[in-house]
This record gives sequence, structure tokens and C-alpha cells, in this order.
Amino acid sequence: MRIESTVRGVRAFVDAARREGRSVGLVPTMGAFHAGHLSLMRRAVADNDVTVVSLFVNPTQFGPQEDFSQYPRDLEGDAQKAREAGVSLIFAPSEEEMYPPGACTWVTVDRLTEGLCGRYRPGHFRGVTTVVTKLLNVVQPDRAYFGEKDYQQLQVIRRMVRDLLIPVEIIAQPTVREPDGLAMSSRNAYLSPEERQAAVRLPQALQAAADLVRQGATGADAVRRALELLQSEPLLRPQYVEAVDPETLEDRSASGAPLVLAAAVMVGKTRLIDNIRVNG
Ligand code: PAJ
Repeated sequence: MRIESTVRGVRAFVDAARREGRSVGLVPTMGAFHAGHLSLMRRAVADNDVTVVSLFVNPTQFGPQEDFSQYPRDLEGDAQKAREAGVSLIFAPSEEEMYPPGACTWVTVDRLTEGLCGRYRPGHFRGVTTVVTKLLNVVQPDRAYFGEKDYQQLQVIRRMVRDLLIPVEIIAQPTVREPDGLAMSSRNAYLSPEERQAAVRLPQALQAAADLVRQGATGADAVRRALELLQSEPLLRPQYVEAVDPETLEDRSASGAPLVLAAAVMVGKTRLIDNIRVNG
């Protein structure tokens, strides 16, 4: 497995693979690999001849009060895990490599970025869509892999690729969870033992709400139930619970399945998100 820090180096590697007729998969990440990241990598390795993993803690998707400087960084540990998963190349660029001095060009997706996390993280999705566009331009993969854990991000990227006619297939992987149901996240490392125990209420609340919808309740009923359960755990401060359309992310509180129940909570200083899809 190679580690490259320059756009030039990645392009040379990918061009050589393409000349030999090999297919290329890309897994964009911010590092601190856990089983969720590894499931994306294994899927990419299975689907493609060559798998590139990008590892870049993207400053433009963090708000000024957010955890950019504390975000866990461990290139050596990550490289070991990626190697074991069968990854061909890690692209770990500097900030200057991704944002040349004076960079003032952004990619924005309207509407889909306005609700859910977009309301609580102004500018976040603009940072995500801009950096993902750059990564797709550097690697020009046949396929790119994203987790359903970040459901709004996945739908925003699908829409961006469609709207901008970017020639790549977006492939989604299901959320990988801890044995008690908590979705794996690099940010789980911030939780104290008490907060970690309280955090399990998030998937439990969404699961209970999803069960109601399966029994015929509306999105609004489900949201109410989930909020009750979240609010009964004193260490959790819910930001939102919403029932949305699985593709457009528009409000679906008046209707039943199919919908996605998505939630964000603060546990101490840590922000956690999760979602569950209820099919029709
Ligand atoms: P990061 O949080 O490192 O996540 C990288 C990818 O792993 C994303 O597609 C995310 O949805 C997926 N992922 C995270 N936790 C997961 C889990 N428990 N199960 C399955 N997949 C999971 O998301 C980002 O980085 C960034 O916003 C990025 C897209 C790289 C742009 O900077």
C-alpha cells in the first residue's frame, strides 16, 4: 500500500492503473478508522481493482466552535488498518494541497442542505461538497463509497453528482453499530463512560419510533415518541428529530412509511447523529 500526500502522486498512480484497464474505487474519510470506515473499504476493495482512501480532516466543514483541532488523528494506525483491508493507496494531503493559497471556489447544494444538520451546522455541507468534488477530481474514480450513518451527507452528494454530471457511481453502505446499537463514530471517543452509556438511548429512541411507523403511525407520532425517549435521559440534549423523505429530505411528518427518521443529540460537548430508514 502506498501513501501519497500530493495530487500529482495520486494522479500518476491512478493513471497507471487506468492504462492497465483497472477500475478505481474511492473512499473519502477524515481518518480515525473504525469498523464503519473499514466496511466501506472492504466493499470498495471487493468492487474495484484499485482502492484509494483519502484521509483529510477537512477544515472547511467544521464551524468555528467545532472540534477541528481536537479531531482524532492517527495516520500510522489508520495506514495499518487500511493495509489490512486491502487498500491500494492512501491520499493524505496537506491543507495547502487541497486548498491552494487564495482558493475562493465553492460547491453548494441548495434545499437538501437547509434542514436537519444544515440548520445546526451552517457552512458544513458547503465544506463537504467542495472537498468531495475536489477528491473526485483528483482520483476520478469509477465508484465512490459513503456510509448511511451520515444520511443527509449521502443524499447531498448523490444530488451533487447528479446535478453536476460528475461521472461516478455513488455506493452507500449500511451503518455499522456497536453491539449495544450505538452507531460507530470517530466522535464516540470523546464520550465519558457515563455519556457513552446514555448515548445508547439515541438508537433505541429511533428504533422505537420506527416500530411505531411500521405499526401504521405517522412521522409526527414517531418524532414525538423519539423525543420523549431522548428527553427522559438527562445527559442527552436533542437538537432535532425529523421524519423526512428518503431522497428529497423533505418533511414527511404527516405521512407514514417510506421515510427516514433522523436525529442529532448533544451528549456533553459531543454531537452525535443517527438515522433509521422505514421502508413502505
Ligand atoms: P468520516 O466521518 O471520516 O466518514 C467517512 C465515511 O465513513 C462517510 O461516508 C461516513 O458516512 C462513513 N461512516 C462513518 N461512520 C460509519 C458507520 N458507523 N457505518 C458506516 N459508515 C460510516 O464523512 C466524512 O468523514 C467527511 O464528511 C467526508 C465525506 C470524508 C468529507 O470530508
